This record gives sequence, structure tokens and C-alpha cells, in this order.
Amino acid sequence: MTLHIAGAGGLGREVLDVAVALGEDRRVLFCDDALAGQTVRGVRVIRPEEADEGEFTVGVADPAGRRSLAERLTAQGLRPRTLVHPQAIVGPDTVLAAGCVILGGAHVSSSCLLGVHVQVHYTASVGHDAVLDAYSTVYPGANVGGACQLGADAGVGANATVLQQRSVGAGAFVGAGAVVTRDVAAGAVAVGVPARQR
Ligand SMILES: CC(C)(COP(=O)(O)OP(=O)(O)OC[C@H]1O[C@@H](n2cnc3c(N)ncnc32)[C@H](O)[C@@H]1OP(=O)(O)O)[C@@H](O)C(=O)NCCC(=O)NCCS
Repeated sequence: MTLHIAGAGGLGREVLDVAVALGEDRRVLFCDDALAGQTVRGVRVIRPEEADEGEFTVGVADPAGRRSLAERLTAQGLRPRTLVHPQAIVGPDTVLAAGCVILGGAHVSSSCLLGVHVQVHYTASVGHDAVLDAYSTVYPGANVGGACQLGADAGVGANATVLQQRSVGAGAFVGAGAVVTRDVAAGAVAVGVPARQR
């Protein structure tokens, strides 16, 4: 059974790092329309439509691109696979839905719920009881406090902090370094300390 990594750019290569760190010994292929036919880090790149069996993990940060690839590969009969770096921590009673990516040094605390294809990047943290909806992303070094809620496709930029129990609406983005003290509306961009919606 083949493990396909969808996206052979920077994040795709970081997802490959996770597979290597896990000692993945199955055949690994990248799927990427733009780089098909090339070899990236010694791994062959095929077009997504050429993937015909096995599992996949999406290594694309943009939620729309991530969703599109996940839907294409699922429609082709592949199963989404969650990858957790061996140097990440995932607490007890936390549920990771299919296709999540947890990079090295990340800490997802206990009793959290992560939807399909959520990504928590390196050294980011997610507090207890947080709920991260499908395709949301926590970028490097960001801190999402306990019992926070991230809507679908929401993003929390590098080194930003979302105070406990706050929500970031669907499709909203918290800029790098921001401190979210009030809920962020769906689709909004919030930057600064304290974070203000633009
Ligand atoms: C918030 C963000 C999405 C805005 O992107 P954008 O719409 O392209 O914004 P621009 O770069 O055009 O900047 C627009 C204004 O917002 C300001 N701004 C941008 N990002 C900001 C941030 N994180 N905090 C404070 N101000 C910010 C800019 O200085 C600029 O101000 P000005 O009009 O007074 O000059 C982006 O800057 C950001 O923070 N992205 C997160 C990056 C990240 O975490 N990447 C992970 C890397 S692995």
C-alpha cells in the first residue's frame, strides 16, 4: 500500500520528514500537478489523478488547496491518513480526525477535537478542550488556548496567541504575532496586540 503526500512544496517536504521520522517503510509518492514527472528529495512526483490505491496525507497549507486535493484523492478511493511526528505530543482523550498533520515539537493537549485535515505546525501548541474544525491550521509557534474554537479553514499565524475560550470563525485568519483577546468573526483578518479586525 502506497502513502501519497499531496503537495511537493515546502510543507509537503515537511510531511515527508514526518513519514521518515516515523520510519515509514511503505512506498511513498508525492502527488503534485505542478511538479509531476520530477523527483523531490528522492521521491517520485505523480499527478494526483495517477494515484490509484493506498493512503494520502495533504501537505498544502492553503485550506482551499488542501480541501481540493483531499476531495480529489478521496473520490479516487484513497483513504486519508493522519501523521504525527514522533517528537510531537498529543494528550490523552484527544481525537484527531483523518488526514491531520502534527509536525515536530507541536503539543496538542488533552480532550481536544481536531477535524479532518487539520494541521498543527512545528512548536505550536493547542490547549486542553480546544476544538479545531476541518482544514484549520495552527502555524509555527502559535498558541491556541484551552477550550478555544477554530472554525473550518481558519488559520492562526506564526507565534500568534489566542487566549483561552476565544473563537476564530470559519475562514478567518489571525496574523503572525497577534494576541486574540476577543472572538474573531468568520472570514475576518485580525492583526496586532491586542488583535484588531481589519
Ligand atoms: C495578516 C496577514 C495574513 C496579512 O497579509 P496581507 O493581507 O498580505 O497584508 P500585507 O502584507 O499587505 O500588509 C497590510 C498591512 O498589514 C500590516 N500587517 C501585515 N501582517 C501583520 C501582522 N501579522 N501583524 C501586524 N500588522 C501586520 C502590514 O504592515 C501592512 O500595514 P500598512 O498598510 O500600514 O503598511 C499576514 O501578514 C500574516 O501575518 N500572515 C501569517 C504568516 C505566517 O504566519 N506564516 C507562517 C509561515 S510558516
